[in-house]
Amino acid sequence: MLSVVVLAAGQGTRMRSSLPKVLHPIAGRPMLGYVLETARALQPDAIYVVHGYGGDRVRSALPEPDIQWVEQATPLGTGHALQQAMLAIVDDHQVLVLCGDVPLIRAQTLQRLRQMAGEDLGLLTVLLADPSGYGRIVRDSAGGVAEIVEERDASAVQRTIREVNTGILCLPAARVRSWLNEVRCSNVQGEYYLTDVIALARRDGVAVQALATSEPIEVQGVNDRAQLALVERAYQQREAQRLMRLGVSLMDPARFDLRGRLVCGTDVTIDVNCIFAGEVEIADGVYIGPNCLIRDSRIGANTRIASHCDIEGAIIGGDSQVGPFARLRPGTRMAGGAKVGNFVETKNAAIGKSSKVNHLSYIGDTELGAGVNVGAGTITCNYDGANKHHTVIEDDAFIGSGTQLVAPVRIGRGATIGAGSTIRRDAPEGTLTLSATPQKTIAGWRRPQKKPKPGG
Ligand code: UD1
Ligand code: CA
Repeated sequence: MLSVVVLAAGQGTRMRSSLPKVLHPIAGRPMLGYVLETARALQPDAIYVVHGYGGDRVRSALPEPDIQWVEQATPLGTGHALQQAMLAIVDDHQVLVLCGDVPLIRAQTLQRLRQMAGEDLGLLTVLLADPSGYGRIVRDSAGGVAEIVEERDASAVQRTIREVNTGILCLPAARVRSWLNEVRCSNVQGEYYLTDVIALARRDGVAVQALATSEPIEVQGVNDRAQLALVERAYQQREAQRLMRLGVSLMDPARFDLRGRLVCGTDVTIDVNCIFAGEVEIADGVYIGPNCLIRDSRIGANTRIASHCDIEGAIIGGDSQVGPFARLRPGTRMAGGAKVGNFVETKNAAIGKSSKVNHLSYIGDTELGAGVNVGAGTITCNYDGANKHHTVIEDDAFIGSGTQLVAPVRIGRGATIGAGSTIRRDAPEGTLTLSATPQKTIAGWRRPQKKPKPGG
């Protein structure tokens, strides 16, 4: 039987933030969420999260029904934190202690630790080139773990030890309950250290099984923003490697960011500095140019997204072209073979098969048929200051450049709108509609002159 306890009540002072530390995001999601996901993979009988500072915010950010929240009103140390959760845990459980600020820990490592611990005490350690800040693992002459000494309490000799405590332990419930009653706060920080149970276990003849992980990044703690960035990069590299193994070409895996879930077909190429957020699906043969932000969207096969596009909540059909510098807002649906070019903004707009909106346009709340050509600088005026209205442009219509379509309005099938028109009434199908005033020339007209400055 397994109980997982996630310690997450520390203040996170070194983050210098009003946001509780465990809510700081890794790849767009609170770091605590990763720890919980990994905990779940072990199929434990219960998961407890010890929270303190900002507890309400933590609980509402992660409203997950399988979590039992335990409050530690004052952060008196990691030992005191675990003690709060122990009130609910039965004696025959194995207690796996995780830290809310160590997000990249892998389930397989935890499984090994559990197996190794058995009825004894299991301790996950790591050998670091620079151990500063961590609790040092002090071993006896036989090589067994004798105790853990926090850096601030360590002697100069102890500080040279490079094997450190990851903060992750596996403990027999009944034993740890009684040890925690014995832990005192007679240390430099005046805290109840969970690490003190190691020496108590030794005293009681309980073996301490230490497992050293060979991957320091999986036990990297996040105490400040620099470590947050370090963990973020490591996570992104992991994801980049995974995608490349699945056959995605990343022009530079170091300049790739995923903040959600990305599913790719075969022969997808992603150029540098792209960010994928939410749920994104990309079909076979798609090319994504540099510097694109793509969120909650689907892109059909062989479509080409040129550089600098911002795409959100869009469904883009196959063999289409988007960008450069296009902004596709939620509700954009492009059928196959369509084109949305530079400096075009679309929102809640269906763009039919093989239709083109190539330059400098705003197409909002619009139903656009197939084979439509929208000239440069065309604007759908969908907002009257109070309400949004709909524009319909039927198949094979041609909208001249610089046109305003004042919604609600319908452009009939095959209709042509002359350049520079302001269209306020429906344009019948198959006709030419113009609204610009006839061209005239005023001879002798003078441009206004700048008034001379007084005294100048
Ligand atoms: C702790 C360990 C140290 C280890 C390091 C690994 C102790 C005494 N020290 O030090 O040996 O090398 O982790 O990262 O255990 N927390 C609470 N309540 C508290 C205090 C802390 O819930 O009263 C939580 C924190 O939110 C955090 C975890 O416990 O998730 C560790 O606390 P932190 O203050 O970061 O301990 P470290 O100084 O890093
Ligand atoms: Ca820490």
